[in-house]
Amino acid sequence: MAKRIEDLQIIGNKPISNIFFILELFGNTKIPDFKPGQFVQVRVDGSPETFLRRPISIHDVDYDKNTFKLLIQTAGKGTKALSRLIKGDVLNLVYPLGNSFSLPIINEKVLLVGGGCGIAPLLFLGKYLHLNGVIPDILLGFRNEARIIEFEEYHKIGNVFLATEDGSQGEKGFVTDHSVFLTRKYDRIYCCGPNSMMKAIAGYCKSKEIVCEVSLENLMACGIGACLCCVVDTVKGNLCTCIDGPVFNVNDLRW
Ligand SMILES: Cc1cc2nc3c(=O)[nH]c(=O)nc-3n(C[C@H](O)[C@H](O)[C@H](O)COP(=O)(O)OP(=O)(O)OC[C@H]3O[C@@H](n4cnc5c(N)ncnc54)[C@H](O)[C@@H]3O)c2cc1C
Ligand code: FES
Repeated sequence: MAKRIEDLQIIGNKPISNIFFILELFGNTKIPDFKPGQFVQVRVDGSPETFLRRPISIHDVDYDKNTFKLLIQTAGKGTKALSRLIKGDVLNLVYPLGNSFSLPIINEKVLLVGGGCGIAPLLFLGKYLHLNGVIPDILLGFRNEARIIEFEEYHKIGNVFLATEDGSQGEKGFVTDHSVFLTRKYDRIYCCGPNSMMKAIAGYCKSKEIVCEVSLENLMACGIGACLCCVVDTVKGNLCTCIDGPVFNVNDLRW
């Protein structure tokens, strides 16, 4: 898919908790057919410290309105600057970047697992699966009830299960402790979140011979395979997360 460098219009910036917000972007030209798992590199203007573009996943797409959404967690200077953007501002993107999640085989039982801002690419993936006749189970993990976001959106496309670290909603503990892993059987698991979480899910899937794809959130600079700062060790050698990923089958990763 051809990559573009384009200015897009911000048509909304909606805070959805004290640390998460959703930017809605309108394309002046027809937006491309995104694949679930792909991301954009956002230019953050205004400070030399945010000189490098920030990678952000495609969260949701509306082809009829020619818009798409980014779900962003405020982490540092770059994302903080993005949180201050308002309707009418312009955002410069390099996009669409990266590979994508693979589609399940017919009748496979599918689970999506997301933790924190790792839930971002799973809404678009879930909608894509739903459109293709797959109703996934979706397990979302948050620190506490106040951090739960987008529950209703995920609820529209699958069976949602929650885990919170303090037990204020759903089951208490990490997603990896959730009872779905004991009570339900899956053929394929898609996962995005902190590395420790993805590694635990990968270990579980390997032990049960479940197909598992994870979306890595390695630090990135160029986003197009030139700087090698996002390299990941795989059974196929060193690969760039930005062009060979961010989605990898866990059997390919040397974890
Ligand atoms: C392919 C990909 C998709 C991503 N999708 C999303 C998304 O949809 N929503 C979202 O909120 N975030 C996403 N991230 C993470 C996001 O890119 C970082 O949080 C962001 O670049 C931090 O920039 P900053 O200037 O705010 O923080 P910095 O000042 O650069 O860093 C603040 C803190 O965040 C950590 N950090 C920086 N970059 C990353 C990173 N790539 N991954 C994890 N931690 C990082 C730093 O180590 C530091 O502790 C994605 C990352 C990748 C690689
Ligand atoms: S970010 Fe530069 S090679 Fe991947």
